[in-house]
Amino acid sequence: MDDLDFAGVERREWFTPKVAAAYARDFARAADMVVPALVARSGAGPGKRALDLCCGHGNVSAGLLQAGAEVTGLDFSPAMLDMARAQVPDAVFVQGDAMALGFRAARFDAVTIGFGMPHLPDPPKALAEAARVLKSGGRLAYSVWCGPDVDTALGYVFGAIADHGDPEISLPPGPGANDYADPDIAFPALAAAGFAAPQMVRVESHWQVDDPAAPYRFFLEGTARGGALLRPQPPHRAAAIRRAVVETVLARHGSGPRWTVPIPAMVVSATAA
Ligand SMILES: C[S@@+](CC[C@H](N)C(=O)[O-])C[C@H]1O[C@@H](n2cnc3c(N)ncnc32)[C@H](O)[C@@H]1O
Repeated sequence: MDDLDFAGVERREWFTPKVAAAYARDFARAADMVVPALVARSGAGPGKRALDLCCGHGNVSAGLLQAGAEVTGLDFSPAMLDMARAQVPDAVFVQGDAMALGFRAARFDAVTIGFGMPHLPDPPKALAEAARVLKSGGRLAYSVWCGPDVDTALGYVFGAIADHGDPEISLPPGPGANDYADPDIAFPALAAAGFAAPQMVRVESHWQVDDPAAPYRFFLEGTARGGALLRPQPPHRAAAIRRAVVETVLARHGSGPRWTVPIPAMVVSATAA
């Protein structure tokens, strides 16, 4: 599609103010539902210092603050950080790379990564950095969307792309979108980074929509991976993908006029050794 590598595509997408704003406006309505589980599993609370990696527009940071923690959010996207600073004025937000943190060792009691893992070219590097900046006994909690093996809007959209998309349009090699929701991948990676007692829980989240094409639009406008695959589609293929998503929503969730479209997540947590 172009000559950017995975990191370059991620950077291009998340640095685009329209993509960041659409994520915060639409897609994150489902991500927001996962925040309480993420915060609870991070152990954040009064007297604790929490670091929110890939903080985006600050939804997880807001949850950590509400739990009573002192919060630092980190993201590489200036567009996301502008929104986070405006929406969560009581947290500190810094620009940085989740795979190369500028914090001293053992500075934090809790680290969260809300839906950031699949966007990192090297997720084990981010886990190692999280382990380094956590105190011994500190907690890491991250969230990842469930894969298409369960009933999820993510499966509707990526299934439609596989069936109707231009086979010439693909992403550069990188981690799978749902790799770290798989305990066979996540738990050994956590152990290798120095974490113990890994746990994984499923969290139900969804979108309430009055347009059965909304999930197509949410992925098109407000995601890095989905946008990079959907935006370059020629019009007839884009229309076929959109139609397939609508048909799946109607077939699985009735004729409307409102739909509850599931997009469940896994929350994974572990303790720093
Ligand atoms: C899907 S959004 C998640 C936002 C928020 N944490 C949530 O739970 O809804 C992923 C975020 O990761 C950020 N991101 C991607 N790669 C990054 C990197 N290497 N370092 C820091 N942030 C990164 C993006 O800018 C984006 O804000």
